[in-house]
Amino acid sequence: MDIINEKIQKYAELYSSEEPEVLSELNRETYVNHLFPRMLSGHHQGRFLSMISNIMKPERILEIGTYTGYSALCLAEGLAENGILHTIELNNENEDIIRKYIDKTGNGSKIKPHFGEALSIIPGIDETFDIVFLDADKESYIEYFNLVIDKLRPGGIILADNVLWDGKVLDRKSTDKESVGIREFNDHIKSDTRLDHVLLTIRDGIMIIRKK
Ligand SMILES: C[S@@+](CC[C@H](N)C(=O)[O-])C[C@H]1O[C@@H](n2cnc3c(N)ncnc32)[C@H](O)[C@@H]1O
Repeated sequence: MDIINEKIQKYAELYSSEEPEVLSELNRETYVNHLFPRMLSGHHQGRFLSMISNIMKPERILEIGTYTGYSALCLAEGLAENGILHTIELNNENEDIIRKYIDKTGNGSKIKPHFGEALSIIPGIDETFDIVFLDADKESYIEYFNLVIDKLRPGGIILADNVLWDGKVLDRKSTDKESVGIREFNDHIKSDTRLDHVLLTIRDGIMIIRKK
């Protein structure tokens, strides 16, 4: 189910900056060669990620869930001069396409891919982050949040993707682990007084969370 009206979505894309050619190419290659291509952020959400990053000019970004690298490349567009983006992906079969597009965009020194289980890798990354993009397995969102919140600088933001989970957040009969994970995550954020947050109805829902 697409929760945003298709014509409105097309209009929103038309009135957002164009998708850079190299990202269109990655988009196409992902749809031809990879399973579950709808996981990729895509044009509209990708321009939103790029916009936020360009406004913040972050020195350190953490992404949890790289897939084929589309959102990593969008977020990297706003990195400060010596900025670094760490991105974590469980599936090392995606390594070739991730590295191919990092090289194509000349981001070799700025984007550091990590392969393996994010819950094990995050504690070993000794950085203070300006932006964290949360986009891996939905049932672990609260665990990811608890691991990253002390690594986020005051004023830093977490962007959590898929927080509407295809509308299933509204349906208490949806008891699959992802729906439950997302509902519990949204409740957790709402009850945490250290944070300001807005749930944006972009694509499948993005929660933008600022650490006070
Ligand atoms: C929705 S996709 C990411 C899409 C990407 N951020 C984008 O917007 O183009 C989620 C990715 O998280 C990865 N993933 C799932 N569980 C993970 C885990 N425990 N640790 C690291 N990565 C994981 C999946 O293999 C998948 O590639």
